[in-house]
Amino acid sequence: MANPKVMKSNIIEKQSTTSITLEVDPEIANWMVGEIPANRSQCSLYLDSGGGKAWLSLVDAGVYKTNTSYNKIEELIIETLKIETLDVNAFISFGPGDGGTDYKILSSLLEPIHYIPIDISNVLLLRSILKLRDIAHIPFGILGDFEEGFSFIRNKLEKEVNAPIIVSMIGNTLGNLDINENPLLANLAGFLKKGDYLVLHVSVYSQSWEFKSDYWVQKENHTSKMRQWIAQGISRKTNKEMEEVLRNYAELEITERIHSDIPNSRSINFSYRGDKILSIRRYDWASFIGWIKQNMDPFEIIREGYFIEGDRETGSACILLKRS
Ligand SMILES: C[S@@+](CC[C@H](N)C(=O)[O-])C[C@H]1O[C@@H](n2cnc3c(N)ncnc32)[C@H](O)[C@@H]1O
Repeated sequence: MANPKVMKSNIIEKQSTTSITLEVDPEIANWMVGEIPANRSQCSLYLDSGGGKAWLSLVDAGVYKTNTSYNKIEELIIETLKIETLDVNAFISFGPGDGGTDYKILSSLLEPIHYIPIDISNVLLLRSILKLRDIAHIPFGILGDFEEGFSFIRNKLEKEVNAPIIVSMIGNTLGNLDINENPLLANLAGFLKKGDYLVLHVSVYSQSWEFKSDYWVQKENHTSKMRQWIAQGISRKTNKEMEEVLRNYAELEITERIHSDIPNSRSINFSYRGDKILSIRRYDWASFIGWIKQNMDPFEIIREGYFIEGDRETGSACILLKRS
C-alpha cells in the first residue's frame, strides 16, 4: 500500500467517484442466501439488508446512542485511544456498525490513514465505507465473520495491509459474540505483530448491579425500534414472520446464564421459543484487566479507563493494548 501521508489530496478529490471494493467470504455469501448455522445467533440481527437496515434505523433514531450515553462512551474511547499519538498506517475496524464512532476517531487525524472495515452485514459495511471515504483511504472492506471465518480475514489483511496497524472492536461487540471471547482474542493475538495495537471497548457493571434491574432486562424499556431490530433477527434465524414475532414479543425470554471466558462476567440472554438470539455480556473491569494480563501475552496495556452510570449501575470501559 502506498504511504497514506502522500495520498491525502487524491483521496479527498477522488473518493466519491472511485468504486468500492469488497472482499466477500463465500461462507457468509452462503448464509446470506440460505440458513444461518445452528450454533450462530447474534449475527442474524445484522445479516442481510433486513438486519443492517434495522440496526441503522435504531442508531439513526438516536435510540441506541442515547440509551447508552454514547457521547460519554465516544469521549472515553477517543481519550483512551489518542489515535493522533499512535504511529499506525491502518485502522482495522472489527464491526463498524454505522461507522459513526470510527468517523469521530479518524477525524481527529490531520492526515488520512487507511481504513478497513470488517463486518458480517453488507449494509453496515457499505454504510461505514460511505461514511469514511472522504476522510480515509479505503482500499477495500471485508464481508466476513470474525468468529469462525478469521482465516479469510487474516489472509486478506496480511496480503494488503502495511504494519503497524490498530485493530478496534467497539460497541461491546466482544460481549455479544456467539462463541465467547477467547477464540477471537487468541486469533488476534496470533495475528498482530510487534508494534501493532488493539483497542477494545466493552460494557461493565458495578457491584450494585442486579440482573432484574438491568435496562435491557426490563422489556418496558424496549422501544419500537429495538423491538423491530430484535424481531427481525428472530425472524431471520427462525423463519417466523416478523409481524408474528412482534405481536408475541411478550414471549421473548430474557434470562441470566453466564457464558464467558472472562471471570465474573454477567450475561443477559435473549431467546424466543427456545431459539437463542442474543447475549449481552457485562464485565467486572478489574477481572477483565486481570484476564487480559494473564492471557494476552506479550501485550502491554498502554491506557485504560471506565465509567459507571449511577442510575444504571452499568457503564463502559476501554483498553488500548500494544503488542511488544
Ligand atoms: C453492537 S454493533 C457495534 C457497532 C459499532 N462498533 C458501534 O459501536 O456503534 C456490532 C457490530 O459488529 C458486527 N458483527 C457482529 N458479529 C460479527 C461477526 N461475527 N463477524 C463480523 N461482524 C460482526 C455487526 O454487524 C455490527 O456492525
